[in-house]
Parts: sequence; C-alpha cells; structure tokens
Amino acid sequence: MKQITDINLKDKRVLVRADFNVPLDDDLNITNNNRIKSFIPTVKYILEQGGKPIIVSHLGRPDGEFNEKYSLSSIIEELEKLSETKVIFSKDCIGDEAISLSNNIQENQILLLENLRFHKEEKANDENFSKELAKLADVYINDAFGTAHRSHASMVGVAKLFSEKAPGLLMQKEIDYYNKALVAPKRPLCVVLGGAKVSTKLPILLNLAEKADIIIIGGAMANTFLSAQGIQVGRSLHEPDLHPQVLELMGNLARRNCKLYIPVDFKVGKSVSGEASSNSVTAQDIPADLMALDIGPATSLLYEAAIKSAETIVWNGPMGAFENPEFSDGTDNLTTVISNSHGLSIVGGGDTVAAVEVLELQHKFDFISTGGGAFLSLLEGHSLPGFDALE
Ligand code: 3PG
Repeated sequence: MKQITDINLKDKRVLVRADFNVPLDDDLNITNNNRIKSFIPTVKYILEQGGKPIIVSHLGRPDGEFNEKYSLSSIIEELEKLSETKVIFSKDCIGDEAISLSNNIQENQILLLENLRFHKEEKANDENFSKELAKLADVYINDAFGTAHRSHASMVGVAKLFSEKAPGLLMQKEIDYYNKALVAPKRPLCVVLGGAKVSTKLPILLNLAEKADIIIIGGAMANTFLSAQGIQVGRSLHEPDLHPQVLELMGNLARRNCKLYIPVDFKVGKSVSGEASSNSVTAQDIPADLMALDIGPATSLLYEAAIKSAETIVWNGPMGAFENPEFSDGTDNLTTVISNSHGLSIVGGGDTVAAVEVLELQHKFDFISTGGGAFLSLLEGHSLPGFDALE
C-alpha cells in the first residue's frame, strides 16, 4: 500500500475522505472537536505539498435526504480555525457546483463538500455516485478511520477509481497503533473490557481470548461471569442465556494460561440513576433487591496490580454506571491507573474516551482512537473495508 508521502501532490486536486461525524448540541454547536483536530495534520500536509484538498464526510444518519441538522456547514468555522485556512463550501457533494468549485480551488484553500449521506447512493456504495465523486479529483486519500468499517461509496467504491490513493496520516496512525497493540504486542498484553452486555462484547472476547495474556472484566457484563458460576447477582443486569459461552470462554482462557480478572466486590444501589448504598459488598453478597453498579475498592486494587504488570494495555468500556458520580469511582480509578502505567496504553470507544476526558487525562495515554464502531471492529478481528480498498 502506498503512503501519502509516496504521492506527488503538487497542484493535484486531492479528494480526502474525513470523518467529521462529531457531536452537536441543539444549536448545532460542536460539543467535541476531537475528530476534526485529529484530521488537521493530513490537510496541512496536503496544503504544504501544494495539493488542493477537497474534503468529503458524512455527519449523522440523514437517510438519503437533505436535513439542515446534519449539514456540514456547521463545521466550516471549526475547520477554518483549526486548519488556519480558508474553507470554501459546496452545497452538494456531486454535480455542477462541486465540479466547478473543485476546478477553481486556489492555493491555500480547502473545499468542503456537503454531507455525503444526503444521497442514499453513498451508503449503497453505488457505482455511479462513486464515479461522480471521482470526477472531482486526481488523487484519493482516506483519513476517515472512524468510518473504515463501512463499505460505502466514498470509502470503497471511489477508492477503486483512483490509481493514486493512500491512507491519510490519521488512518495510518490508527492502524499502526492497532498493530503495535494487538498484532505484535510487547507482552504481557492486558485487555480491559467493560460495558453493559456480554452479548455485544462476546465477539471481542472470543477474538482477544486468543491473543491476550491478561483479561480484566468490568461493567455490568461482569455480572454474567459471576452468575455463570452460580453466584447470585440480585437485580443486576445479566444474561443467563450466555452462561454456556462464558463458561467455555473461561475454560479456554485457563487452558491458555491467560489470567482472567472479574470483580471481587461492588458498589450497589437501587437504580443506575440513584444513590449508592454506603458500603460496598463482596461479589458473593450482592443483596437480592439491589444491583451491582460499579466495581468496589478491593477490585480496583486488584486491577491496578494487574495493569502495572502489563507492557501493553488496550481498554474499551467503563467499569460501571460512571455517568452517575455515585458509581464513577471504579472507572475513574482505572483511568488514572492506566494513564500512569508504564505500558503502551490504547483506548477506544465513545464511553471510554468520555471517561478519560472527564478527568482530562487524554495526554497521558499513548493513543486514543477516534473510532467507535471501527475500533470495536478491529478488536473483533475484522479487517476494515475502507482501509483494504486502498491496497
Ligand atoms: C462513527 O461515528 O462511528 C462513524 O462516523 C460511523 O458512523 P455510522 O455508525 O453512522 O456509520
């Protein structure tokens, strides 16, 4: 696969697929600009090389028709500010206006095209739509790691129509860190998995069970590991239909000598949004009328020791109902411990990154992925169609 640095960009129109799918408030203000910030090195590189960036992206899920709420016009100002470059906007991503603007971009300007998903052909990976996009440029760069698990026209169809193509700097960095962490990790490799349901994380567990040396489980999914062993979990969320798979997984991990950590104590309460009972309880003593809503202090100490022993740490999923401060200690402690660990630390997934941001510890992690679904897809062991199409 070519790298962006292998391509002569001078005076070339460069179609750049970005992932500007950022959260907006009701007044269409950006509430988290991470994805735009992370994309800036790529657009700056293209400009420095004398190339003319034509940026395409999606925002939200507008279902193939125009909707002001999802217009990329909301991000023009932020993109101009962060790139320190004038942004020209085209009200459609294909058609006469886009063609004319793409042919007339001046040096040190960025052309941003309207939301790809205002055309239903984008998600359908439609060939003609891909051809319309390809008309706009000479070179194709894909920097939309967050969308790399989607086989959409701007990710896959269009890539096939360019001979000059490469991943952008962010896409390449994401893949490099994934390789460092999970393809050729420094060992011991510790995987920390949290979240509500085993069912959504089972594909990740099955894949990483073959690779990890240490697996740490938190969040409500831990309850299913306890109940599978016959431990009563009160009113805690758990999934009895998954007991056979969980027991099989535990057996496989034991055979591989992979150390599995599940909570030994919990903070409990009546509801996710309510108060915590004053004392934490051991895993064997969850009251019948209460729910386990965060890992307890003994579990935090145990997990700290395991994380300190690791050379590589990959983390996805909170340890409890951390949005409620009554149940955030477990996730907060874990965030601090991983941020201080000497091993290579990689974090991904919306909730998990939010937990790191609450404590403002982003700078203490080696890498924070911009991918939600794409990051999980890699952890499940899938390849990414948006990256493979650049081959
Ligand atoms: C994301 O936010 O995970 C990506 O931008 C992909 O968005 P999608 O799930 O709507 O395809």
